[in-house]
Amino acid sequence: MMRARFPLLLLGVVFLASVSVSFGIAYWEKQNPSHNKCLRSCNSEKDSYRNQACHARCNLLKVEEEEECEEGQIPRPRPQHPERERQQHGEKEEDEGEQPRPFPFPRPRQPRQEGEHEQKEEHEWHRKEEKHGGKGSEEEQDGREHPRPHQPHQKEEEKHEWQHKQEKHQGKESEEEEEDQDEDEEQDKESQESEGSESQREPRRHKNKNPFHFNSKRFQTLFKNQYGHVRVLQRFNKRSQQLQNLRDYRILEFNSKPNTLLLPHHADADYLIVILNGTAILTLVNNDDRDSYNLQSGDALRVPAGTTYYVVNPDNDENLRMITLAIPVNKPGRFESFFLSSTQAQQSYLQGFSKNILEASYDTKFEEINKVLFGREEGQQQGEERLQESVIVEISKKQIRELSKRAKSSSRKTISSEDKPFNLRSRDPIYSNKLGKLFEITPEKNPQLRDLDVFLSVVDMNEGALFLPHFNSKAIVVLVINEGEANIELVGIKEQQQRQQQEEQPLEVRKYRAELSEQDIFVIPAGYPVVVNATSDLNFFAFGINAENNQRNFLAGSKDNVISQIPSQVQELAFLGSAKDIENLIKSQSESYFVDAQPQQKEEGNKGRKGPLSSILRAFY
Ligand SMILES: *[C@@H]1O[C@H](CO)[C@@H](O)[C@H](O)[C@H]1NC(C)=O
Ligand SMILES: *[C@@H]1O[C@H](CO)[C@@H](O)[C@H](O)[C@H]1NC(C)=O
Repeated sequence: MMRARFPLLLLGVVFLASVSVSFGIAYWEKQNPSHNKCLRSCNSEKDSYRNQACHARCNLLKVEEEEECEEGQIPRPRPQHPERERQQHGEKEEDEGEQPRPFPFPRPRQPRQEGEHEQKEEHEWHRKEEKHGGKGSEEEQDGREHPRPHQPHQKEEEKHEWQHKQEKHQGKESEEEEEDQDEDEEQDKESQESEGSESQREPRRHKNKNPFHFNSKRFQTLFKNQYGHVRVLQRFNKRSQQLQNLRDYRILEFNSKPNTLLLPHHADADYLIVILNGTAILTLVNNDDRDSYNLQSGDALRVPAGTTYYVVNPDNDENLRMITLAIPVNKPGRFESFFLSSTQAQQSYLQGFSKNILEASYDTKFEEINKVLFGREEGQQQGEERLQESVIVEISKKQIRELSKRAKSSSRKTISSEDKPFNLRSRDPIYSNKLGKLFEITPEKNPQLRDLDVFLSVVDMNEGALFLPHFNSKAIVVLVINEGEANIELVGIKEQQQRQQQEEQPLEVRKYRAELSEQDIFVIPAGYPVVVNATSDLNFFAFGINAENNQRNFLAGSKDNVISQIPSQVQELAFLGSAKDIENLIKSQSESYFVDAQPQQKEEGNKGRKGPLSSILRAFY
C-alpha cells in the first residue's frame, strides 16, 4: 500500500507543480503586453522629460508583479501610487496584512467601467495619461533592471486589456498577499539572525534591513515636476509584521519650489499636516466658505478627509517642505487624491462623469464644458490640450499677494483650537537643557489631535547630545528627521520563531540600530526602549499614534526615571547590586532627558558582551 501510494503522491505533486508553473506563464503572458504596449506608447513622446516619465511608469507596471530585491535581499517596496495605480490597473490591493486574509475590499467602480459605450472615450483618457504621466520614479532613478521571467506575447486585443487585468488582479490578490507576507517574515528572520548579536552584526552586508527604518528610497513619487513633488512612504506593515497596527497610517511628503501652487484637491483620508521648513499659504475650501492660513515651520493643522485644499509656497527663496500623516477613511492604508482640474499628470474627477450628466448638471453643451474645465477643444488631437503639466504649478507674485490678503496666521496664543493651525513651539518645551529641547502637543491639549489620537512633538538636539534611553508607554512614534544626523538604537525582544528553536534559552533582546539622516523616517513601537545620539545638530518631528495618556518612561537620568521609582526591596531582588549600588548608579547621571553622548568615565571593553541578557538595559551596551 505504502509503495503504491507514494508514487501517486509524487505524481500529484509533480502535477500541481506543473499546473502552477503553467499558470505562472499564462499569467505573465497576460501581463506583459501591457508593459510593452506602455513602452511603445512612450515612443511617441518627443519631450525628453515626458518620455522619461513614461518609461519610469512603464517600469513600475512591469515591476509590480515581481519581487524586487534591494541590496540582494531586501524586498523593495512595490510601486504604490494610490492615484495612478488605480486608474491604470484597476485597483490592486497591497498586502493588507490581516489574518485570515480578508476578501478583497469592495472598491468603487471606476468611471471607465461604467458602460460599454463609454469604453472608448475612457480608454482614450487612459492612453493620454500613459503618455503624459508626469511622474518621475524612484525606481528608475535607481537604474535597476528587473529580471523578467518570460517574453511577452503581444497579440492580445487592446480593448480587453482592462477587463483582463482587473479580473486577474482580483483573482490573484490573496495569493500574492500571502507570498508577500512570507517574504516579509523571511526577511525579518534574516535580519534578526544577522543582527542578533554584536559579533555577528559587525560585518553587516546590508545596511538597511531594519524594519523600523525607512530611508528616503522608501518613498514612492506620486507627482513630480520642476516645481516640486508629492511622495508617499511605503506602507509601514509592508516589510515586517511588527508594524501591523500602523497599516491604517501613511506618510506623505510634499516639497515645492518658491512661488508655486499645489492645485485644489481632496483625499479620502484625514490629514495631519506639519510644516517642516519654509512657509505656506494653505487654504481649506468648504461649501460655504474658505479659510486661508499663513503657515511656517512647526505649524500643524488637521485637514479633515474630503476637504478641498490648495497650498501656495509664497516665498521667493525657500522651498516648502510639509510632512503629512494620512489616515485613510475607506480602506486600510490606501487613499486617493481627487483633483478638481485636469493636468497632464492627473485627470479631473469631473471627467469621470458621463457627457450627458455633465451637460444636464451644468446646463451647458459638452463642448463648452470640455473647453472650460478640461482644456479640450473639438478637433484637437490627443496631447494638444493646454493643460498644466502637473499638479504643482507656477504662480505669480501678484496672484500670491491677492491670495495672502485673507490668510490668517497660526495662533501663537492658543493651541486648543478645533480647526485653526497651531504651532508646536508655542508652549514651553517639556524637556529642556543646554543640550536639547522637546516640545510636545498632546491630544489632551488640542481637539484636532484628540480626534486623531495623535501627539506631535519636535525635538532640537545639539551635536554630541544623547536623548536618554526611554520608552513610550502606549504610543507608536513615527520620527521624521528634518535636519541633521543621528544614530538611533531601538530594543525589541526576539520574536517567537527564534524562541521555538531554542526553548531552553532565555528570551533574548535584539537591537535595531540605524544611522538617520535628513528625510528618513524611523518608527519606535510602543514599549520598545530607544535612545538617540545626535551626531550633528539635529531637528526631528514626531507623530505619536495612539497617544492619549502616553507616558515617556526614562531608564536613566534624574527625572521621570522608572527605575528609581522601584522600591529598594524589589530592586535588590531584581538586580545583582544592592539598593545602595543602584541608587548610586542612578545618581551618577545628574542630568535628565538630554545628556552628553561622550562622558569622561567612558568604559572600554564592554562592547560586544554576549550571553543571556535578562535586562533590557544591557542591550544598549
Ligand atoms: C529651512 O532650511 C534651511 C536649510 O536647511 C534653513 O537654512 C532655514 O533656516 C530653514 N527655514 C526655516 C523656516 O526653518
Ligand atoms: C554618539 O555618536 C558619536 C559619533 O558617532 C560617537 O563618537 C559617540 O561615541 C556616540 N555616543 C554613544 C554614547 O554611543
